[in-house]
Amino acid sequence: MAHPSIVILTGAGISAESGLGTFRDEGGLWAQHRIEDVATPEGFARNPQLVVDFYNARRAQAAEAVPNAGHAALARLQAEHPGDVLLVTQNVDDLHEKAGSPDVLHMHGALNSALCGACEQRWPAPLEMHVGEACPQCDAPTARPDIVWFGEIPYQMERIEQALLNADIFAAIGTSGNVYPAAGFVQMAAHVGAKTVEMNLDPSETVALFEETRPGKASETVPEWVASILGS
Ligand code: OAD
Repeated sequence: MAHPSIVILTGAGISAESGLGTFRDEGGLWAQHRIEDVATPEGFARNPQLVVDFYNARRAQAAEAVPNAGHAALARLQAEHPGDVLLVTQNVDDLHEKAGSPDVLHMHGALNSALCGACEQRWPAPLEMHVGEACPQCDAPTARPDIVWFGEIPYQMERIEQALLNADIFAAIGTSGNVYPAAGFVQMAAHVGAKTVEMNLDPSETVALFEETRPGKASETVPEWVASILGS
């Protein structure tokens, strides 16, 4: 195949070596915070301050973080691969962009974006958001972090599904395979005959669905995989 179409899904594991905590590893974010409190619309309605503080802390941490060799290798793949490369991330940090990736689809939202809960306008989030901030478009005091919470629909699913239907290669990197619909992408890609590869520190929940696994740290496995694709 001359120029395979590639779809890549990344998760918290690719940012782990940049110092950002994962969710489900020992001591991860979901061991320290209850999902219902900080990552659901109901939690935000009950205690918006807690939720805004949680994402302010994560935004501050992400602002300090620098991309690692895994992010850099994916940016290189996007720049040098002559076929299509769609980079989908579940991460809300901007380390792919900092590494130079030109087009990143943030299916679970982004820390550096704010969203109006009333009119759905988006704008760049300040480093520190405040409860009850007004929307610049409709003036309602309904600003919230632009994060897809549990029970909400991930962004740009149509574009992702279209790319998966045309994929020749699907790679999942640093994701535990616990959260759908992302965890189901491997099945969609395999269904259309794409070659599937997992790069993760530990086997994910869906490891059995992948044709190939490259266990290890993303900073090592991803540059090796990218070099194998680019033939260098
Ligand atoms: P998880 O915390 O569930 O999984 C992270 C995965 O990364 C684990 O399987 C680790 O083994 C692996 N890992 C850790 N360090 C690694 C490294 N250096 N190199 C490679 N792999 C490594 O994170 P996600 O799968 O991204 O959603 O979680 C999915 C979603 O669940 C998140 O987007 C978030 C969360 O709830 C929302 O908040 C909406």
